[in-house]
Amino acid sequence: MGLIPQTFIDELIARADIVEVIGSRVQLKKAGREFKACCPFHNEKSASFWVSPEKQFYHCFGCGAHGTVLRFLMEHDHMAFPEAVEELATRLGLEVPHEGSNAPGGPRRVDEPLYDVMGRVMRFYVDTLARDERAQQYVARRGLDRETVEKFGIGYAPNSWNEVLRRFGGNDDARRVLADLGLIIERERGQIRDGERHYDRFRDRIMFPIRDSRGRIIAFGGRILDQGEPKYLNSPETLLFHKGRELYGLYEARRSRSNLKRLLIVEGYMDAVRLHQYGINYAVATLGTATTPEHLKRIFRIVSEVVFAFDGDRAGRAAAWRALQHALPEARQGREIRFLFLPDGHDPDSLVGEEGAEAFERRLDATLPLSEYLIRELSEQSDLTHADGRARFSESARPLWSKLPEGVYRELMLARIAEVVGIAPQRLQELWAAGNPGLVAAPAPPQPKRVPVRNVSGGRGSLVRQAVLRLVSYPAIALEVSDEERAALDACEEPGIELLRELIDNLRTHPAQNSAQVIERWSGRPGGDSLEKLLQREQIVADAVAAAGELRAALGKLADLVVARRLEALEEKSRSTRLEPEELLEFQRLMLYRVPRDARGG
Ligand code: UTP
Ligand code: MN
Repeated sequence: MGLIPQTFIDELIARADIVEVIGSRVQLKKAGREFKACCPFHNEKSASFWVSPEKQFYHCFGCGAHGTVLRFLMEHDHMAFPEAVEELATRLGLEVPHEGSNAPGGPRRVDEPLYDVMGRVMRFYVDTLARDERAQQYVARRGLDRETVEKFGIGYAPNSWNEVLRRFGGNDDARRVLADLGLIIERERGQIRDGERHYDRFRDRIMFPIRDSRGRIIAFGGRILDQGEPKYLNSPETLLFHKGRELYGLYEARRSRSNLKRLLIVEGYMDAVRLHQYGINYAVATLGTATTPEHLKRIFRIVSEVVFAFDGDRAGRAAAWRALQHALPEARQGREIRFLFLPDGHDPDSLVGEEGAEAFERRLDATLPLSEYLIRELSEQSDLTHADGRARFSESARPLWSKLPEGVYRELMLARIAEVVGIAPQRLQELWAAGNPGLVAAPAPPQPKRVPVRNVSGGRGSLVRQAVLRLVSYPAIALEVSDEERAALDACEEPGIELLRELIDNLRTHPAQNSAQVIERWSGRPGGDSLEKLLQREQIVADAVAAAGELRAALGKLADLVVARRLEALEEKSRSTRLEPEELLEFQRLMLYRVPRDARGG
């Protein structure tokens, strides 16, 4: 990316309003010609943080934090300088100019054309919807009005194998970009039809563009009209799109309200879109995945109040419990995390349609705070009228409580749990600390045999590293990785795994002949530096055949590690709460998977 000209930064600061920007993140109170608040950068009870609209500057007398609106965004939202500039420019409807981005030898910006293509394809889908009666009827039947369709850029992918391919894939380079973006798929060898090596991924689907925080299109979700599998098809992970990070509707929510105070987290595209249509324009959707800790970190940079909405059925309750566990490390004084359980058989889309916005929002005001939800769930599993039950309750609360970060909230939660157990908070903590001898009356249920994770790993980071090194050394061996082996890495969380996945995906779709090509592709991208270093330092790889064998061995061990980790997590959970039936099934399935491998001595 080229340098941002100083003149533009001047202009940006001139146009921005620091009060508005800070005010949307911190509760400001007017005080004479300035504004004050409790400082967001340190813990305090009385306000010593001042914002001056005249100077366009903030200052904290308590901790000394100070700066311009850009500095605030960098410190408060943890943005890098260019990101802060982009964020501000987006708010003001300005485009950030870059100097010398084409200078030879200068830094390159590889991703710009990609966003461009996504934008053009989105407009094509929008136009297609405008022309297709059947698609329009479907959209109308789902109760979406014109304004909402426009706001979200909803479109329609025609029922064709090659519309996008033909319109946007005029030459090899263009097709390569489309494939990188997951818009077209390469055919297997021998499946080539009419001379076309690719076909459109999205066919006969209502298309929901997924935007990043700056409004650029990074992916699509497509819903099949009528019946068909899968119901929703999403873009794969690409250079632009990382599923576990994005929240559908967040960009739209931030644009609808300059002063966003809370976010409502729902599961589906339709839920988010319809809630917006009803004026509940602070709804966002996780994309069919569970809420990740990364989601929550992003959310709490923007608002301090979060409501999770879940279906009232068993699956919904299981998802809620998972969300609670991910939310615990983010819980603290000043943040509100609450849970809404919908009546059985409803999702937010159907419910808001049936009862209207007002009734739905009333539900939001009567939701369970995280603390009470936790207590309620645990007390349902133990009979609190007996000492045994209260002991069991305290045991199952302990691992959850210990996920809370230190602070006032944690203390309050301790007091609340102690209240239910019926002892003093300090006594409870002592018992917990002492490993609880004598408090648990009932013997622990029989535990499945422990699966020691270390057996399969043998130096964890190094497995990923071994695999990566082999791939950079002999990129062609990526073609020997099977779909199954690749898929097993999806659930893997080892350090550096993302780079390994990207490497395999990239090299499988665009085979490279030598290491230099790989290094060039990754230049300036995350992981690029470490690839170079790895290649410089390590010289142990003998030849392509050996490398392929070693690569696959490493992938196999990584897959085992995923299973072992999951088993451990389930086991850990079974010690504190009862496993859901589907979790039990999963447990058995995973145990079966392990046996033959162990028997093989792997
Ligand atoms: P649901 O199956 O609950 O569908 O999936 P929905 O949102 O109510 O959809 P409609 O109302 O039938 O159109 C919830 C979310 O899970 C993801 C999507 O993000 C979806 O919005 N999902 C679901 C997929 O990614 N793929 C699928 O096949 C199904
Ligand atoms: Mn639905």
